[in-house]
Amino acid sequence: MNAPWKVSGHTTRDAFAAYICDDASLAVLRPVVGELGWAPEKCNKGGLRNAVQSLSITSSPNILMVDLSESGDPLADINALAEVCEPGTVVIAVGQVNDVRLYRDLLGSGIHDYLLKPLSEGQLRDALVQAQAIFSAPKHHDPATAKKHISTAVIGSRGGVGASMVATSLAWLFSNDHKQPTALLDLDIHFGTGALALDLEPGRGLTDAIENPSRIDGLFIERAMIRANDNLSILSAEAPINTPLMTDGAAFLQLEEEFRQAFEMTVIDLPRNMLINFPHLLADVNVVVVVTDLTLAAARDTIRILSWLKSNASHAQTLIVANKCHASGGEISKADFEASIERKINYSVPYDLKAATHAAKLGQTFGEANRSGKAGAAVRDIAEAVRGATDVEDGSEPGAKGGKGAKPGAEKGSLLGKIKLGKLLAKKEKAGA
Ligand SMILES: Nc1ncnc2c1ncn2[C@@H]1O[C@H](COP(=O)(O)OP(=O)(O)OP(=O)(O)O)[C@@H](O)[C@H]1O
Ligand SMILES: [Mg+2]
Repeated sequence: MNAPWKVSGHTTRDAFAAYICDDASLAVLRPVVGELGWAPEKCNKGGLRNAVQSLSITSSPNILMVDLSESGDPLADINALAEVCEPGTVVIAVGQVNDVRLYRDLLGSGIHDYLLKPLSEGQLRDALVQAQAIFSAPKHHDPATAKKHISTAVIGSRGGVGASMVATSLAWLFSNDHKQPTALLDLDIHFGTGALALDLEPGRGLTDAIENPSRIDGLFIERAMIRANDNLSILSAEAPINTPLMTDGAAFLQLEEEFRQAFEMTVIDLPRNMLINFPHLLADVNVVVVVTDLTLAAARDTIRILSWLKSNASHAQTLIVANKCHASGGEISKADFEASIERKINYSVPYDLKAATHAAKLGQTFGEANRSGKAGAAVRDIAEAVRGATDVEDGSEPGAKGGKGAKPGAEKGSLLGKIKLGKLLAKKEKAGA
């Protein structure tokens, strides 16, 4: 907002108010406002002039919708509005003039959006949800003070490979060892183990968020998330098995956005099935950690996930973590696995039953419970690599700084993919197609 919004002594502000000239628009607006949890009676009959009049004697709402239809000089009236509005008010104008120049001028004078009549429910809902996000976002976007944020999605190539072990360990290491404010979002809604690994109850936070995405804001995050340590907050669920997941994914995106404002690190435990329904979940993710074991099925699915990531999340840096690696070798060797996926494994975590048992007994994450030993060290290396990504903002090579793994991406153009296993997998894919 660049309008000279007046500073006022008022402290209590309504979440929303509207001044709309015609009944038809009010009839569309009121239910949407109710749905967002605001008072429909704050949708007043009237136009911009009425808004200016009322707001000169009362405090302005967080979000204000004003109708320009009856205004002879919208820009002059908007300036009059600026005089009586409080700082940070997000103003949405409504009108019937379809003129790009007017639209630009309005945006230039600090209006957040301009909606053309006749109003539709969907258009109103989108505009209001967006306005709410703008209102709750930090107001100063000074790049020098802007917090860096790394969002990491951890995806298992197959079930049980240890994706949640990696996700919870990373979140713990960021928050405890590095004192970075961290959010852990467990999107395994029915069977998630994020809370369990930290010896916590999941609570209702994530379920509430899914049911009421419009309620998600800074305050919601503060109240709904479960504290695991001074710097780690988690959001997870243990949804009843007979309750299907009913969401269009809006809640997840909103959560990601809020986390970006409130934390330095976000770790998302992302079951691979979620990629199918909610591909946009990775839109703002910086690092994707693909956890896999060294089996034929996992090789096939790692190939498929990597290919999906290339098409759908090419901006994100990808790390491949082979977990549960047996000293005696796996179902397929590391070299064969790398050949078939046509890139190097960045980190290998040995199979360590003792370490897993120790973590389970203590009710701690694998990374926390195992400070000595190779498995714990490998997990710490992964954490360092992800933290190294802080310095990378141009989508170039991920920072494997501090880690002992191969540089991700360095394996482009590998010739190894042409070996027997690659052919075998290709045949299998073909047969399945
Ligand atoms: N390196 C390891 N050595 C031994 N056990 C391990 C190792 N990593 C993970 N485990 C164990 O394997 C089991 C599965 O791990 P985890 O729940 O993290 O897998 P997941 O990929 O998230 O599974 P799901 O598909 O059910 O979400 C857990 O009991 C965990 O303790
Ligand atoms: Mg899991």
